[in-house]
Amino acid sequence: MKIVVFSAQPYDERSFDEVLQRDYASRGFELIYQKATLSVQTVALAEGSEAVCAFVNDQLDAPVLETLHGYGVRAILLRCAGFNNIDLEAARRLGLFVARVPAYSPEAVAEHTVALILALNRQIHRAYNRVREGNFMLDGLLGFNLHGKTVGVVGTGKIGMATARILKGFGCRVLGLDLYETAEFAALGEYVALDVLLAESDVVSLHCPLSDATRHLIGAASLARIKPGAMLVNTSRGGLIDTHAVVAALKSRRLSALAIDVYEQESQLFFHDRSSDIIDDDVFMRLMTFPNVIVTGHQGFFTVEALREIAETTLHNLDCFVSGRACGNVLAGDT
Ligand code: NAI
Repeated sequence: MKIVVFSAQPYDERSFDEVLQRDYASRGFELIYQKATLSVQTVALAEGSEAVCAFVNDQLDAPVLETLHGYGVRAILLRCAGFNNIDLEAARRLGLFVARVPAYSPEAVAEHTVALILALNRQIHRAYNRVREGNFMLDGLLGFNLHGKTVGVVGTGKIGMATARILKGFGCRVLGLDLYETAEFAALGEYVALDVLLAESDVVSLHCPLSDATRHLIGAASLARIKPGAMLVNTSRGGLIDTHAVVAALKSRRLSALAIDVYEQESQLFFHDRSSDIIDDDVFMRLMTFPNVIVTGHQGFFTVEALREIAETTLHNLDCFVSGRACGNVLAGDT
């Protein structure tokens, strides 16, 4: 059985090949790695396959799904947790099997979130450059103690909870917001309404999925209610933030700092080497000019453990589809 793996990077090939040979050598799965991002322009690469494997910036809208279905593709294997990039209604209509990797080391993303908070607060990105240039002055690098500060966690699921646990360990007061409140979070923090979370948090960290309800959750209106001088961190999905409004809030000093691992228009940039190109995204380039902004290119998940779990769960999902066994990770389809 042929499976085309879109947006494949060398590290994907290594981790998938390792798990394939270790656990599924006799199953006849043939993985065909394609660097291209899946879109209407590249969907033809899937011709002749029965399944495709997609990542966060692959576009699985109705036209792409219909073309895949026409080629004989019957299974879509998302090797990520978020599923905002697939039209599930269209997938169901076409009778496609769709499965995802609901959790791959939530601690990986939580630890990256905390790394961003610490780096931004203590200006590690600037200190690194200064020291390498022989400048040992401290002026301009002043941070604050995280101990005793209030951190607002929007979305207290697996990653939000792992983040809250670490920050609690730093001695922070942790506020939370979720549609479904859990006893696990309530044991270490306090659930509050969005307005209270925004008004009281020194650091606001986003961990809810992107949906119609959460798109631009942080925009001009919410930034007007955020505590003056708050730090904003987003390691969830770029669309949670209205970047224009955030740039305005940085310029007006309403926000003291911003760290993002995700960006609304990231598909043009992230996971590609654009170092020799003229980047024509003016909003992104404006962000790059702020000394109090750190951007990483969607690397929150990028640990040895998470890559292994992604490959293991994705191939397990495929095996369930092929053998008709029950699969707990299905978003659409029968098993
Ligand atoms: P999860 O499903 O365990 O938790 C998400 C939580 O958000 C749930 O508790 C849900 O009830 C809550 N939620 C949903 N809508 C909400 C709303 N309108 N307001 C407040 N809370 C809401 O998901 P998990 O594993 O914690 O992942 C969270 C997000 O992190 C994913 O959706 C994904 O976009 C992102 N992610 C980022 C990665 C990276 O590399 N930067 C890697 C993996 C996931």
